[in-house]
Amino acid sequence: MNTVIQLLQNRVSCPKLVAPAPNQDELNAILGCAMRAPDHGRLKPWLYHVIQGDALVKLGDVFVQALDGQNVANDKIEKTRNIPLRAPLLIVAVCEPQANAKVPAMEQVLAVGAGIQNMQVAISSLGYGSIWRTGQMAHADVVKQAFNVSEQGEIVGFLYVGTPEKTPNKPAADIEQYVKYWE
Ligand SMILES: Cc1cc2nc3c(=O)[nH]c(=O)nc-3n(C[C@H](O)[C@H](O)[C@H](O)COP(=O)(O)O)c2cc1C
Repeated sequence: MNTVIQLLQNRVSCPKLVAPAPNQDELNAILGCAMRAPDHGRLKPWLYHVIQGDALVKLGDVFVQALDGQNVANDKIEKTRNIPLRAPLLIVAVCEPQANAKVPAMEQVLAVGAGIQNMQVAISSLGYGSIWRTGQMAHADVVKQAFNVSEQGEIVGFLYVGTPEKTPNKPAADIEQYVKYWE
């Protein structure tokens, strides 16, 4: 089997990520893969924000602001502040859907999702790990404002990137269960 297929068949998400993160050349190669996502109408409805170092700490403060008005315990506040520090590099994938008669917003979100997936495969191929997360913070107004996301725009994913502390070992879904040959 060729190496691309082997890589795709064995890719797993890595929740525990530590330094080092990909270097700048590697990061450029990874981001270049996102630019090759299938994209109906070639609208390029994506924007990727790269966050590292002190900017991760700053994002933690934004996440805490998103809890404003909620009655939360102190330990939840600290846990929330530390969310972006779960990896040395974070890529925030934003979709800004454009009005288009042929390409509904959902397809534009899918194009950004395909970009994230391209990056995940590229990251694995370079020997690093990643995990795509969303959660409450992806939908919080204050977080969207921090990335200048419009009202119609969406944070499609937070892609955490780094060196896997440990690579999970889990079986892939079974093609016999999830594939049918329609006749
Ligand atoms: C749109 C989307 C949002 C996700 N959000 C989260 C999340 O917030 N937290 C999480 O632990 N996993 C989330 N996941 C799942 C992980 O990225 C991952 O796919 C899952 O843990 C299964 O692992 P695997 O990729 O190794 O099969 C999300 C996946 C997608 C596609």
